[in-house]
Amino acid sequence: MDAFRARYGPWALVAGGSMGMGAAYSRQLATRGLNVVLVAEAAEPLETLARSLAAEHSVQTRPVLADLSAPDVLAVLDAATRDLEIGLLVYNAAHSVVGRFLDVALEDKLRMVEVNCRGPLLLCHHFGTRMVARGRGGIIVVASLSGFQGHAMVGTYAATKAFDLVLGEALWEELRGHGVDALAFCPGATRTPAFLATNPQPTGGLSPPLMDPDETVAEALAALGHGPTHIAGRTNRLAAFVLHRLLPRRSLVELMSRTTRAMYERRH
Ligand SMILES: NC(=O)c1ccc[n+]([C@@H]2O[C@H](COP(=O)([O-])OP(=O)(O)OC[C@H]3O[C@@H](n4cnc5c(N)ncnc54)[C@H](OP(=O)(O)O)[C@@H]3O)[C@@H](O)[C@H]2O)c1
Repeated sequence: MDAFRARYGPWALVAGGSMGMGAAYSRQLATRGLNVVLVAEAAEPLETLARSLAAEHSVQTRPVLADLSAPDVLAVLDAATRDLEIGLLVYNAAHSVVGRFLDVALEDKLRMVEVNCRGPLLLCHHFGTRMVARGRGGIIVVASLSGFQGHAMVGTYAATKAFDLVLGEALWEELRGHGVDALAFCPGATRTPAFLATNPQPTGGLSPPLMDPDETVAEALAALGHGPTHIAGRTNRLAAFVLHRLLPRRSLVELMSRTTRAMYERRH
């Protein structure tokens, strides 16, 4: 049996597994021979992808319709997966609303906290407990380059991604002694439906080129088991290395805010 499947199989659960990077996780995991539980809110893309992966890769798939911000989401996911051995959890879903902090509705801010912070906390606790009991498994918490510092226009989202970054790193340290690999994975701008829907404007060279979801996800799967944190893309890694080591915090926040303002301010 393939070493990846032996370590992280037989089932993976991809929270937010129907589109963009989430679909790429589901597809690449099915290609590696893992059965996949795909969780999302919209039925049609979820069920279509689940059917096509099962047919193309001779694996089992289980689409689960759930809102990861719902108060009872853990009960829903537990009922849907109780008969399965989930060896890999990918928490990919996120809610993101762009705008100046005071202009974004409070309910959107709270939904970002629910989907991006409460959701991974619940699922890491639930599936992590079972992985530790089995002595093997993997957890990828999808954070973001935006989680390394504050930015104008995406303040709440960036703060939730800082939570994901720190949570994934802490899990790496605590769980590795129990046979469970955790990773805080940090994509930069990636060509997904969710990102394109924010309608980002060109920034005049302030930001690196958009990455492809398949390329980004391949990096995450390759990085699992090799350290606490991985930044997607060589250009992003180089930029992060230089910016985080050389710039004072104040200059870093100002520079990153110039980028997000150039991308979004005129429209908000
Ligand atoms: N794209 C980028 O440029 C970029 C950059 C840095 C970090 N990231 C991070 O990468 C991850 C994925 O990126 P993306 O935002 O571009 O999205 P994506 O992978 O294209 O799709 C998001 C997935 O999450 C699902 N989802 C969203 N809210 C949900 C909810 N409340 N309950 C259940 N499922 C939900 C969506 O399906 P439904 O719509 O059916 O719910 C979809 O399957 C996120 O964690 C994001 O923060 C993205």
